[in-house]
Amino acid sequence: MTDESPSKARGAKKPDPADLEILDSPSSRFLPYSRQDVTKNDIEAVSAVLRSDWLTQGPDIPAFEKNLCEAVGAGYAVACSSGTAALHLAMMALGIGPGDEVVTSPITFLSSANCARFVGLKCGLPISIPKPV
Ligand SMILES: Cc1ncc(COP(=O)(O)O)c(C=O)c1O
Repeated sequence: MTDESPSKARGAKKPDPADLEILDSPSSRFLPYSRQDVTKNDIEAVSAVLRSDWLTQGPDIPAFEKNLCEAVGAGYAVACSSGTAALHLAMMALGIGPGDEVVTSPITFLSSANCARFVGLKCGLPISIPKPV
């Protein structure tokens, strides 16, 4: 038993506001799982929205979608409220439905499989069971 938080027990450093800045190197742009890079600018941008009259569907949404299109060279982008909503929308955009097959990783969130179910697929997760030694 430990009195440390789970993230501290995993060796994660508690973010210090002074550390929340973008380091402009390729390796710092990589997003290690559960070690998000939240910058002062990110916090200021979210705070500005929270202080504004627009908590949903405000002008920052189309601006974000436009910037994302430019950043990745896409023709369209749709901001979603969650990863689950985005996966569900992606399945619908791809026309995935009954009769199709979706394979997802067993090491993922249940929403990956749930989204296949949302569009009418029967879904099972591939399961890897280690051989007994
Ligand atoms: C791979 C993956 N799929 C789906 C989700 C679900 O996202 P949300 O909780 O925003 O719906 C997550 C969340 O971290 C995720 O990492």
